[in-house]
Formats: sequence, structure tokens, C-alpha cells
Amino acid sequence: MAATRMFITSLLATICVASPMGHPSIRETLAPRSPDIQSLYQRLHSQAGIQILPSIIDGPIPTNNGPLTFSNWAGALLESSNITSATGTFVVPDPEVPSGGNSSTAYCGCAWIGIDGYSADCPNGGLIQAGATWCIQDGSTSFNAWYEWYPAQEIITFDNFDVKAGDELKVTVTATSTSTGYTVVENLSQGTDIRHTWDTESPALCEATAEWIVEDFTDISNGSDYLAPFADYNGLIFTDSSATANGEKVGVSDARPVNMVQNGNPVSEAVILGDQVFVTYTG
Ligand SMILES: *[C@@H]1O[C@H](CO)[C@@H](O)[C@H](O)[C@H]1NC(C)=O
Ligand SMILES: *[C@@H]1O[C@H](CO)[C@@H](O)[C@H](O)[C@H]1NC(C)=O
Ligand SMILES: *[C@@H]1O[C@H](CO)[C@@H](O)[C@H](O)[C@H]1NC(C)=O
Ligand SMILES: *[C@@H]1O[C@H](CO)[C@@H](O)[C@H](O)[C@H]1NC(C)=O
Repeated sequence: MAATRMFITSLLATICVASPMGHPSIRETLAPRSPDIQSLYQRLHSQAGIQILPSIIDGPIPTNNGPLTFSNWAGALLESSNITSATGTFVVPDPEVPSGGNSSTAYCGCAWIGIDGYSADCPNGGLIQAGATWCIQDGSTSFNAWYEWYPAQEIITFDNFDVKAGDELKVTVTATSTSTGYTVVENLSQGTDIRHTWDTESPALCEATAEWIVEDFTDISNGSDYLAPFADYNGLIFTDSSATANGEKVGVSDARPVNMVQNGNPVSEAVILGDQVFVTYTG
């Protein structure tokens, strides 16, 4: 699995009961263009508690660079050079047991933004990323925010930063060099943030890709290739998504959509519109 570079060791460390809240202000940039996109858009907006604007127009879906398919990722992958930062905002979803699932099983997922997660473009290099994880088991949901410089420093949970469904989080990862950088997770609902700085890390980054990803992560406690049971997260939008490449701000319109397919079954699909990356759970 070329793209599997995020590992989680202790998932259910923070158990809390979710209480979805707030009406995050997802900016409208481009209207959706096809009935499929329209219904996806409506679904995500309704999940986020946002009223859809009446300006939904017909038209072609923007042509992005070629989509990619992975078993564990859905979202957007930007390939460039000298990528020194990536940022975006998302609303933490309220996970549900997938249809036909067993409520005693822990179903999880996570969303993150990173640099150099795509090992095909950065073989043996480092990866910096930060994001949030969600799980549901026995009717209880749990969440946390985390960062990592993989593979040297595996996932570390931010302490004293309680995450729950409905929180609007802005994640920024910055490489100040190929071996130094920092990550910031900011709660836009509250104006609080938490950060981690790396003084020296290895292996070095390649600064070749930036990613906005919903992941079915690998549960290494149960085998190196074992994907944790994936929660129905409904959908998630990365808004205000951008990166810095070669010293300039670049959008995600040239990024490649990444779709998640497991054993031939579509699990999540991604659509990129303007600076928004729509990721929807398709079961
Ligand atoms: C659900 O999982 C629990 C724990 O593994 C198991 O005891 C139970 O039999 C399962 N229920 C069904 C309907 O499969
Ligand atoms: C984010 O802000 C909301 C609203 O004030 C708050 O309820 C929530 O606990 C905060 N989450 C974090 C991770 O700080
Ligand atoms: C571990 O993986 C096996 C399949 O390889 C699966 O049947 C089992 O449920 C997994 N256990 C846990 C705790 O996820
Ligand atoms: C990009 O990085 C390469 C080598 O890492 C360097 O030679 C080049 O000058 C950089 N370009 C810009 C625009 O920063």
C-alpha cells in the first residue's frame, strides 16, 4: 500500500460522547455542477448545518489532473516541488457504525493535511502531517487531534485539546526546511490552537506533494497491512485548501482527486471544486 503512511497506536485513549454543535461557516466558492455533485454537496452541507445556496448550476465537473485510487485514502494530492506548507479547514464528523456493522466493533477514521505522504513521490523520505481521528464503539464516540513526522516519530496526540464532532479545525503544516517544521491545529469555533515544532527530524522531506486526506488508517497492533474497521463519517469538506510551492501560494485545483476503493468496492470519493475538497462516504 504505497500510500499507507499514517499509523495509529492508541486509538481509544480519549473516549467522550459526541455532541455535534455549531454552524461552521464553510465558504461558498464554486457551485456544484452535476446532479451527483449537487447531492453530495447538499449532503455535506446539511451535515455541517449549512443552508445550501440556490445558485446551483448545471455544467461540467472541473477537469482535475488524473484521479488516483487507494485502499485507505480519499481526498486530494497535489504534486509539485519545494512544497513548504499545506493548510485547510474541516469540520470533525460524527462517526456512525457502517450499515451492516456490529456496534461492538471500533470503527474509526481520520482526516489530515500533510507534506510528502505519497511515498511514490518521496521514497524513503519523511512525512509531516496533522489532523484528527474519530471512532465509534458501543455507542460512544471518541476523538483526538495529533501530529507526526513519519516514520521517525509516529503519531502523537495533542494533550489538552479536546476535539468533538462539529468542531471546525484549521490544520496547517509547515516545513521550514526539509528537516524542521511545525504543525498547528486551530479550533476556529473557539479561536484556540495547539502546535508542535520539530527542530531536527529525519528522514528529510522531499517537499514533493501536499495532501488533504480522509484515511482508513492501518492498525499496526493487528498486522502491518490491517486497515482498521472504517466508520461511516458521512462526508467531510476541506475548505480554504492551499499549499505553498516554490514560494508561491497554490490552490488545490491542480491536485489529483483520490478515491478510496477496497476489494473493488468504492468506499469514499473525492471531488475538488475551487479551494474545496469534498470527500464523501459511499459505503
Ligand atoms: C458483535 O461483536 C461482538 C464482539 O466481538 C460479538 O460478541 C457479537 O457476537 C457480534 N455480534 C454480531 C451480531 O455479530
Ligand atoms: C472548539 O471550540 C468549541 C466551541 O467553543 C468547543 O466546544 C470545543 O471544545 C473546542 N475544541 C477544541 C479542540 O478546542
Ligand atoms: C485483527 O485482524 C483480523 C483480520 O486479520 C480481524 O479478523 C480481527 O477482527 C482484527 N482484530 C481487531 C481487534 O481489530
Ligand atoms: C527548489 O528546490 C531546489 C532544490 O531543492 C532548488 O535548487 C531550487 O532553487 C528551488 N526553487 C525555488 C523556486 O525555491
